[in-house]
Amino acid sequence: MIKVAINGYGTIGKRVADAVDAQDDMEVIGVTKTGPSFGCQLAVKKQYPIFCTSDDEERINAFSEQGYVCHGGISKLLEIADIVIDCSPGKMGKINLERYKKSGIKHIFQGGEKHDLTGLSYTSCANHESALNANGARVVSCNTTGLSRTLVPLYDACGDITVECTMIRRAADPGDSSKGPINAIKPVLKVPSHHGPDVMTVKPEIKINSLAVAVPTTLMHVHSIVVELPVNHNLSTESVIKLWKEQPRVIVMNGTENRIPTTAEVMELSRDIGRKWGDLHEIFVWEEAISLIDNKLYYFQAIHQESDVIPENIDCIRALMGTNSDWKDSVSITDAAISKYNGI
Ligand SMILES: NC(=O)c1ccc[n+]([C@@H]2O[C@H](COP(=O)([O-])OP(=O)(O)OC[C@H]3O[C@@H](n4cnc5c(N)ncnc54)[C@H](OP(=O)(O)O)[C@@H]3O)[C@@H](O)[C@H]2O)c1
Repeated sequence: MIKVAINGYGTIGKRVADAVDAQDDMEVIGVTKTGPSFGCQLAVKKQYPIFCTSDDEERINAFSEQGYVCHGGISKLLEIADIVIDCSPGKMGKINLERYKKSGIKHIFQGGEKHDLTGLSYTSCANHESALNANGARVVSCNTTGLSRTLVPLYDACGDITVECTMIRRAADPGDSSKGPINAIKPVLKVPSHHGPDVMTVKPEIKINSLAVAVPTTLMHVHSIVVELPVNHNLSTESVIKLWKEQPRVIVMNGTENRIPTTAEVMELSRDIGRKWGDLHEIFVWEEAISLIDNKLYYFQAIHQESDVIPENIDCIRALMGTNSDWKDSVSITDAAISKYNGI
């Protein structure tokens, strides 16, 4: 059994914890919070031992004042775990990495951190093998994960591809009241945005640039993508649809026939099929909008930002622990275990 610590039990941390808990080869050994809050109740309900993100006695004791059992500070948790999944807010990685190195523990960061932090970025379909037995990695962001899911199979099918894409980004997560815009469209003025080039940290062979725009929605991101294929490619619109339908964690569906024209209906679909938190781990591609004209492929896809990276974290644990060398094996084990709590 792989003993997994979750450092940071927020939007991503609570989802990773449940995905770990669902697997037969790993267990949640503890989760951390900065202090007592409503979020601790979920950990209590799931019987995950709570630890404090700090070793400060005063902060540890504050948990019991509000009726929660805190099993100690982060150092104590790191002592008993085999691997830590860092789900702290972005940009805290540098400080936390020092701690992990001192404890000699394997570690996985999230997409809010830069590639340079670990020098190894990870996505199941792109580079599972290069992460085998590594000490640390970063699971790339939700957008980079989404781009990889459809672009890596295209690259594998026809070699050289050049990609231009626009990320139409949700302004904030549904449970986050601190961000915006709420009545504006906000172009990201750093061009190219980091999203496209970030794909090259997991698949350097794909040439890609991106623009990004934040819009007032909390549900999902949408990507508008144009891929230039080699002139002598042998794909057709139909064969691309078939290719993506065969990929794990990609849903290709006709939005017009199924009356799923927007991200609102995609999210309703996830709730209807009983997904926990209404999550959608898969990337949703609108089938009728996939269009290959000469050597240019056009498509839209939707990304559920809070959840597409969750199964990737589970595969990344197996890569770092060296237990599954084949990414497709890991993906099928991960997804079969998760489907037991996911209503399908
Ligand atoms: N949300 C998304 O859509 C999304 C998607 C993909 C990747 N990511 C990435 O995932 C990471 C986590 O994001 P999130 O959305 O889950 O953030 P979040 O909801 O704000 O949760 C962050 C958690 O970290 C805890 N924390 C605060 N300071 C900490 C520290 N020094 N060490 C460890 N934990 C600490 C917080 O504790 P308290 O609960 O006690 O405050 C909270 O539980 C970021 O790198 C982010 O960029 C997020």
